Amino acid sequence: MGNADLRQLQKLDQASHIHPFTNHNDLAALGTSIIERAEGCWVFDSEGHRLLDGLAGLWCVNVGYGRHEIIEAVHRQMLRLPYYCSFFNTTNEPAIRLADRLSRLAPGRLRRTMFCGSGSEANETAIKVIRAWNRLRKRPQKTKLLSRKFSYHGVTLGAASLTGLPSVTDPFDLPLPGFVQVPGPHPYAANTDLDSRAYGQWCVEETARIIEREGPHTIAALFVEPVQGAGGVICPPTGYLKSLRQICRDHDILFVADEVITGFGRLGSWFGSELWDLDPDLMTLAKGITSGYLPLGATMLSEQMGDELLKAGYFAHGFTYSSHPTCAAAALANLDLLEKERLVDRVRDESGPYFQSRLREFSTHPSVAEVRGMGLIGALELVPKAGKGAPKPDSALGAKAARIAREEGVIVRGIRDLIAMSPPFTISREEQGTLFAAVRRTLDRFHAES
Ligand SMILES: Cc1ncc(COP(=O)(O)O)c(C=O)c1O
Repeated sequence: MGNADLRQLQKLDQASHIHPFTNHNDLAALGTSIIERAEGCWVFDSEGHRLLDGLAGLWCVNVGYGRHEIIEAVHRQMLRLPYYCSFFNTTNEPAIRLADRLSRLAPGRLRRTMFCGSGSEANETAIKVIRAWNRLRKRPQKTKLLSRKFSYHGVTLGAASLTGLPSVTDPFDLPLPGFVQVPGPHPYAANTDLDSRAYGQWCVEETARIIEREGPHTIAALFVEPVQGAGGVICPPTGYLKSLRQICRDHDILFVADEVITGFGRLGSWFGSELWDLDPDLMTLAKGITSGYLPLGATMLSEQMGDELLKAGYFAHGFTYSSHPTCAAAALANLDLLEKERLVDRVRDESGPYFQSRLREFSTHPSVAEVRGMGLIGALELVPKAGKGAPKPDSALGAKAARIAREEGVIVRGIRDLIAMSPPFTISREEQGTLFAAVRRTLDRFHAES
């Protein structure tokens, strides 16, 4: 693209396009970056930069870019039936096959799937399913929803109300009534003297106290990301998830696993729920279900819950794009690739352990306060100027480091004072070498500049 065309596009963008999760003052000052194409783990922008995508788009392009198997499946489906709705006793073959396949892949009792267009919609659907189900069971007072500090469940009114990040809730006067927050197992942010396991135990005890305070008979469900992603790659301390799950059983509170990031292999198992034996009552999915090639979300329920809900008759929920045939075709082709190339096993046995060992090499870097991660997801907490543990009101060291990383040729995500990474599952050792060499240059520059 010529410079004049690029400037013209950037002007059009500024005049008419509102970007998601963007500070538009910064955008106006720094200019828009336009990604033109992508291949494998690499994206190419309109200024001629080739960037290693260390975040797989937005934690989603798990099979990498340019996969002809998905593109051709989508093309074939578009020619045959690009769209038809699933309302009114109608559906399409890819949606049927995908629901069936998920019921065989999913952990524990999860057998029934309702499709939608995104992770937020999947959580919004879960909220409505839970409300409808408790009404059917004649427990209309059981409506409150628990979620954890630092959780991210999306941006629609219910999903944002679940989200434990003030930047997502406060500007919109959320959460709505009936959403109750419990602690997230993040000792680093709590600045506590307890070690990770002890802090996890404290979180469980505090959650139990909050449940008693609110009254267990008023609480419908707890939403949990097995590893909290957008909140800063927070991995559960030993024993924590097991105890949390048990508290829900003890108090007849539904356990919802939000596997929008962790589903389909990022932790080295098909679902994070399997790693901690969570046996969720509901599970929400998106992102890796199509590797981001087309938008698709899913809410899975146990057979029993599905039966009770559907026997009641008309279920007035669903979207124009629920069970979209082309999105379902993309998901089926994506699952074929994951299986054929054994990508989930490879995350577990090869790329994941290598990624974690390379990540942990930074634990002695003077700019790194903590290293976290599992499988192919990880984060580095950056040391603020005033030193580790100093108060950090509005600091955005992560954004600064992510900008430097981009100059060094890689895309990572800046969150608060950390950088997060979650590359495609197809990343080679050599590409991991490129990623981590660029991260080291980034940290060295960051250290020199701070
Ligand atoms: C765990 C989790 N849940 C839900 C969502 C919301 O998904 P979407 O952006 O597709 O609405 C995200 C998105 O990052 C997520 O990470």
